This record gives sequence, structure tokens and C-alpha cells, in this order.
Amino acid sequence: VRRARREDALALVRLRSTMVEAMGLASGGPDDPWLAAAETWFRDKLGSAGAFAAFLVDDPAFGVVSVACGICDSRPPGPRGLSGVRGQIFNVVTEVDHRRRGCARACLDALLTWFARDTSVEIVELTATGVGHGLYESLGFRARGHPMMRMSISR
Ligand SMILES: CC(C)(COP(=O)(O)OP(=O)(O)OC[C@H]1O[C@@H](n2cnc3c(N)ncnc32)[C@H](O)[C@@H]1OP(=O)(O)O)[C@@H](O)C(=O)NCCC(=O)NCCS
Repeated sequence: VRRARREDALALVRLRSTMVEAMGLASGGPDDPWLAAAETWFRDKLGSAGAFAAFLVDDPAFGVVSVACGICDSRPPGPRGLSGVRGQIFNVVTEVDHRRRGCARACLDALLTWFARDTSVEIVELTATGVGHGLYESLGFRARGHPMMRMSISR
């Protein structure tokens, strides 16, 4: 496992496509505008140390096969945390042929170590898909009483 660098931006977009498809959403064709926008986003975040990190597994033959990303999000301090900084985990995905070999667990372990050692994060949150649930529980994550709600803003 190693920390992702700016040059890994394209691989992170490829893995994001794999995740989008695994979630049953259409990822669009190879020219879909979200791909270039996501590559710019990853390149930008990977170039600025501090609030964002991604840890990945490289296969010598295939390239990057697994990744977990995390970002720090500042909220006002509260009784459960004086720093107010929360960690959000997202884009946790392993290429199909490389699953069940411990790649996602290794990436998440490295990411959680980064949150603990290199940030002031006190709470880490994520949205779990069915297949990720057992993995997250085994790492110590628990479902909250308040489910996440979502709406889209149309412009
Ligand atoms: C979820 C996912 C990231 C796991 O990646 P992985 O590299 O295969 O995971 P690991 O090999 O590190 O497995 C870790 C644990 O996850 C669980 N797990 C992994 N695949 C599983 C599956 N298909 N069904 C049930 N549990 C599974 C197991 O508990 C496993 O523990 P073990 O090591 O004791 O067997 C991968 O299946 C994936 O990319 N899925 C599609 C994308 C997705 O849903 N991502 C979001 C997750 S919230």
C-alpha cells in the first residue's frame, strides 16, 4: 500500500468508474465530461498536502487495483469533538479480479492511520454499500441512529 500521488489521478478516476458501475449507476462513455472533471479534481487534491489523502494498492502487471480516499471536513466544535474536524471516507473500490485478497482492508487501514496521525480528525464517517458493510464493521464503524438524507438541487 502506498499514498497516491498526482500521477495516480487517472487511475483513481478509472476505479471511480468501477465503483459507480458496482453501485448500479451509468458511468457514461469514455468521453463523458465527469471523467475529465474528476481527473482534474483528483490531480488538484493530490497535489495539495493536508486535507485529502488516498491510499492504493499497485499490481505490478495491472497498475492500481484498489483505493480508499479520505478528506477532512471542518465543522464547529461540539461536545464530542473540540477540533470539529471530521473525516469522510469515499471512493473505496477494488477492481473485480483483485477482490477478496485484503486490498480494500489494507488501503482503509493506511487511511485510518493517516487520519489518526496526520490530521486532527476525531470522527470518521462514510456511507456503506451492502458489500462494504462487514468490512467497515470489522474496522470499528457503527451505523448511526440518524440516517443520511439527500436531495438534488436543480438549476
Ligand atoms: C467492497 C470492496 C471495496 C471490497 O474490496 P476487497 O479488496 O475485495 O476487500 P478485502 O479483500 O479487503 O476484504 C475485506 C473484507 O470485506 C468483506 N468482503 C469483501 N468482499 C465481500 C463480499 N463480496 N461479500 C461480503 N463481504 C465481503 C469481508 O468481510 C472481508 O473480510 P475478510 O478479509 O475477513 O474476508 C469491493 O468489493 C468493491 O470494490 N466493491 C464495489 C465498490 C463498492 O461497493 N465500494 C463501496 C464500498 S462502501
